[in-house]
Amino acid sequence: MSRCDGFNAGLLCAHGIHYFPRLGSTNDQARRLAEDGAPGGTVVLADAQSAGRGRRGRAWHSPPGKGLYFSLLLRPPEMSPPAAAPLTLAAAAAAARKLRQSTGVPVAVKWPNDLLVGAKKLGGILTEARCNERALLYIVLGMGLNVNHRAEDFPPELRGSATSLYLERGIAFERIALLLDLLEDLRRSVELFFQEGFAPFLPLWKELSATLGREVRLAGGGAGKAVDLDADGALLVEDEQGRRRRLTCGEIVS
Ligand code: BTN
Repeated sequence: MSRCDGFNAGLLCAHGIHYFPRLGSTNDQARRLAEDGAPGGTVVLADAQSAGRGRRGRAWHSPPGKGLYFSLLLRPPEMSPPAAAPLTLAAAAAAARKLRQSTGVPVAVKWPNDLLVGAKKLGGILTEARCNERALLYIVLGMGLNVNHRAEDFPPELRGSATSLYLERGIAFERIALLLDLLEDLRRSVELFFQEGFAPFLPLWKELSATLGREVRLAGGGAGKAVDLDADGALLVEDEQGRRRRLTCGEIVS
């Protein structure tokens, strides 16, 4: 078996994972595979990304030998785009639970797509979809996780706001073992989501939430207290006058 950039490429291949030492973005590669007819469940993993993306056009810092950067291609059964919208929240809650179990790090979820430890960002999810007039054709669920990053592995502007499993526990983690563990759980969770929607994940998301009960500033302006999460994943934010807003997309900045 060949070893490549710290990843055991042969082992990854045996698990059907499309592994690349370096890619622009695993989400882009997964999209290309989807357009070529790849089946649901296909996984693309890169040791490093030169154009890793986060939400809202941000870059996802993806140095080699440190993190997990992967995308899971999903082909949902008949499902409307609005019904699939809370998939990111469900995946984040499932990943946080799994990471807690396998690393002991108290990972929490920040609405809508962040994995946090305390106030620092450990990971994030970028979900992209292609649909026709009626239904979703496929979804690419991309996850970036800071695993063995030391402080100096982050650019200076991220050092105050980012963390890694290594920084939290003081030990390095075997990335393949972590990935296989996460993928097994994620696949099961996605199946459950496609069958039963967000309902089975709502209590878990609330339990692991770093958002509910906090004062939040909204990216588009305005502020309030995050008071609840709706059954469809919308965040309920209440201002000082007691007026409630339902956020279905967007971002909170603090
Ligand atoms: C975010 O926090 O805004 C989401 C970050 C998602 C990053 C991952 S890394 C693997 C996949 N490929 C990408 O280009 N982005 C996602």
